[in-house]
Amino acid sequence: MQNTRKVTEDIIWVGCNDRRLALFENLFPIQRGVSYNSYLIMDEKVALMDTVDASVTQQFLENVEYALNGRDIDYLVVQHMEPDHCANIVEFMKRYPDMKIVANVKTVQMIGQFFDEPGQERIVLVKEGDTLSTGKHTLRFVMAPMVHWPEVMVTYDETEKVLFSADAFGTFGALNGNMFSDEVDFDRDWIADARRYYANIVGKYGMQVQALLKKASGLYIEMICPLHGPVWRENLAYFIEKYDAWSKYKPEDKDVVIIYGSIYGHTEQAADALATKLALKGVKNISLYDVSTTHVSELIAEIFRASHVVIACSTYNGGIYPPMENLLHDMKALAVQNRTVAVMDNGTWAPTAGKQIVKHLEEMKNIKLLENQLSIKSALKNDREEELEAFAQQIVDTL
Ligand code: FEO
Repeated sequence: MQNTRKVTEDIIWVGCNDRRLALFENLFPIQRGVSYNSYLIMDEKVALMDTVDASVTQQFLENVEYALNGRDIDYLVVQHMEPDHCANIVEFMKRYPDMKIVANVKTVQMIGQFFDEPGQERIVLVKEGDTLSTGKHTLRFVMAPMVHWPEVMVTYDETEKVLFSADAFGTFGALNGNMFSDEVDFDRDWIADARRYYANIVGKYGMQVQALLKKASGLYIEMICPLHGPVWRENLAYFIEKYDAWSKYKPEDKDVVIIYGSIYGHTEQAADALATKLALKGVKNISLYDVSTTHVSELIAEIFRASHVVIACSTYNGGIYPPMENLLHDMKALAVQNRTVAVMDNGTWAPTAGKQIVKHLEEMKNIKLLENQLSIKSALKNDREEELEAFAQQIVDTL
């Protein structure tokens, strides 16, 4: 059964949902699934905007064939060469022998790396600012390197004022019939996954996202069609502002996120006691996460959201408790910056994790490390209440 939806009079969503994939990029849990969006522009010439992941090829072929209603595809615009979007290029070249591939130089090179290089006669090479007319529609190509790969470009449909935004403005989460962001409660049900998607997939490339936002601000955009998640046709400013904050590494909320790494529960107990102290001092919406049981992508998303982070961690083999070390590594890799961080460590004979955590934090940009650190020997005792009080107070003072 075909599963397509009209986006505008001429644009049809022909993408697919995957609710069986456990790990996106074989890395990120996606309990709500994911959509691979692809769009057909039905004009005098027909253009297909990207393809989908190999796992959903059958559904995709059915959708495209149904939407084409007997017509052929003239252009396949390849905006991004990550396999979740490019997997069907070769299949489509075979099925539509007159179809041309619209791509930039880097894209063509990557097509040759993943598949066999297509002959020059099948390529329409485009660069920044080039346009392609399909009849009524004029597509303008805007290069967006490193959002999320170097070859990425986005496409502006000048006629319908639609931005096909590639991975930008995407999110985890399958489309459950409701394909537009105004058909769902995005701020309640989607934003956490959108933030997790941004922070973990594109988070490292804040500068490049800023460059794309700057280019986009020069375009009059009425609709955003990303490669994952809902299409935006209302309240675009809401999501653009989120992207602006995330790509500037600007916290969304003045909140405290406590992340603990605890072997037998003693560090957890100290983190718990800290949370209570903070609450008694009037701090609201405190979050507390176990680094061992919370996926690192969730923690990264929370760090992108909140202004203050507390790292409470056991010492392990003379170093940092491994899941916490993994988190710190990810924070560095994803260019986390502009956060206020407090550090608490634990160790029965040599609590050394704190020092090593600080070293990691010092390698990140613009991290305000709170001076007062708390080092626990095995378990936090009542006689250290004053120290815990001071530790909590410095957080409150900087909130
Ligand atoms: Fe959805 Fe970077 O691919």
